[in-house]
Amino acid sequence: MNKTQKFIVTSALPYAEAVPHLGNFVGSILPADVYFKYLKMKGEDAIFICGSDQHGTPIELKAIKAGITPDRLSNEVHEKIKKVMERSGCTFTYYGKTHSESNKLTVYEIFESLRKNGYIIETEDTQAYCSVDDRFLSDRFIIGTCPYCGYSDARGDQCENCGHLLSPQELIEPYCAVCGNKKLEFRKTKNLALDLEALSGEIKAFVESHKHNNWTKNAINKTLSYLEQGLKPRDITRNIKWGFPVPLKGFEDKAFYVWFDAVIGYIGITREWSESQYLNYWKDPDTKLIQFMGKDNLEFHTMMWPGILIGAGREYVLPHTIKVFEYLNAKGVKFSKSKGVGLNMEGAVELLPSDYWRFALMYLLPETSDTDFSIEEFIEIVNKVMNDKIGNLVNRVLTIYGANRGIISGEEDDAASISKARSIISEYIAEFDAINMRNALHKVIELSELGNEVMSSTEPWKLAKAGDANSKREFSKIMVSLRQIVYDLGIMLWPFAPDAASKILDYFGMDGQPEIKMLENVPDIDTNKPPKAIFSKITEKERKNFEKYIDS
Ligand code: MF3
Ligand code: ZN
Repeated sequence: MNKTQKFIVTSALPYAEAVPHLGNFVGSILPADVYFKYLKMKGEDAIFICGSDQHGTPIELKAIKAGITPDRLSNEVHEKIKKVMERSGCTFTYYGKTHSESNKLTVYEIFESLRKNGYIIETEDTQAYCSVDDRFLSDRFIIGTCPYCGYSDARGDQCENCGHLLSPQELIEPYCAVCGNKKLEFRKTKNLALDLEALSGEIKAFVESHKHNNWTKNAINKTLSYLEQGLKPRDITRNIKWGFPVPLKGFEDKAFYVWFDAVIGYIGITREWSESQYLNYWKDPDTKLIQFMGKDNLEFHTMMWPGILIGAGREYVLPHTIKVFEYLNAKGVKFSKSKGVGLNMEGAVELLPSDYWRFALMYLLPETSDTDFSIEEFIEIVNKVMNDKIGNLVNRVLTIYGANRGIISGEEDDAASISKARSIISEYIAEFDAINMRNALHKVIELSELGNEVMSSTEPWKLAKAGDANSKREFSKIMVSLRQIVYDLGIMLWPFAPDAASKILDYFGMDGQPEIKMLENVPDIDTNKPPKAIFSKITEKERKNFEKYIDS
């Protein structure tokens, strides 16, 4: 049987609570989409799976406040996210959701296997109970001071400031996030936990054997340091109603913890996509599972998730690569809705076509450290890089080519610039293969710089006018090279800015997704099509539209 290498690309599942803002988008979905587009350009058998994460207390509480069911609320937000992600140029194989029959079935199967294998243990926890609200409070709904860093707004599950996972009992001076009640009771309650301690040897072995598969440094280092500290069992059930009910006697009044069914959601969503195909991907031991996420998702993916998969022993493939991104911080601009308006992806694609955001955000991709996003820098990337370097080059080449079509003869090119272009292209491919997407984007820019350099050092428009045979031949060679560069730019831009790429490739009579192997053979330019702008500058007038997002 002819077996092909398969890929599953995933992005962390956005909560069906709000439309992702720029930071959420660049921290996971966008790089996953860019990488997936590259794999498709290479002709790989790849699927891109994402979806809305519907469970969790924040969504439940939001729904209570809105007077609707969490099911309805999260489905409505899900539809919005799905639409805006498509408008952002994302081409998921399937964008599903966690509160689905397929996922429920998968969660139950995996839970049953974990239980049979002895990795589910009963724990008796004390859990915070608010007698004002008359309910158990999930970890997130307890606020207090972090015992590790002293941050005063730490949540009971994790400190947003230092990233430490917490349990509510560790918080100093905890209070109810719903009503502010400081007199929390801690009541005894039984729950089920995943015995990560028992699995820690295997999790460690997994990390050691996989960490060199292009994991980001932060993913490796933080995971190793957590493993060093030792893993403890972690509850996978909660005293809540919203979620999948726990199918075990004595626990029927509880639901699975949102993170348990969210990570399993990667499988469940694939199953929702295709019941007949999902196992071909998930149970092929050679499948490369490439997972993208923000740094706050790290532990769940490098330890809990492999723990679940290993413990269940159902032969699902383990993550091959874990790419963890740092934060993109809003600087002088509002991202989140907390203070009224915030720049989310819905607002972004209203302001400008998605290509502008995709390109600029990938340019700023916070791979190694937190990165600031400001309107000024965004405009600079659009105006000076996208427009000046790429857009203008394409335009000038098309214009000069069209005006002098008659003296461009044969296929002879300028060997020196073509060999430079070839080496940039092979670096682009190498960077993409190593899943360094920001570096790959810089290769696109480098190629445009090469084109601009060729243009300004040879001044082909003068050669065209000179009229003597030598100049004409020189002109032709240069234009054949520039044609090659523009065409290659069209292909290489595709994962980042598919609409701009299509505009360029249209001049070469191509439409739809290009292939990497097409980089070699350049079709001729259709000079009947008048050159149009690939990108445009953001003018002072357009800049005004950004003002409502500026932090004052
Ligand atoms: N909803 C979570 C977040 O936005 C991510 C869940 S990713 C998954 O932080 F692994 F659980 F699927
Ligand atoms: Zn309360």
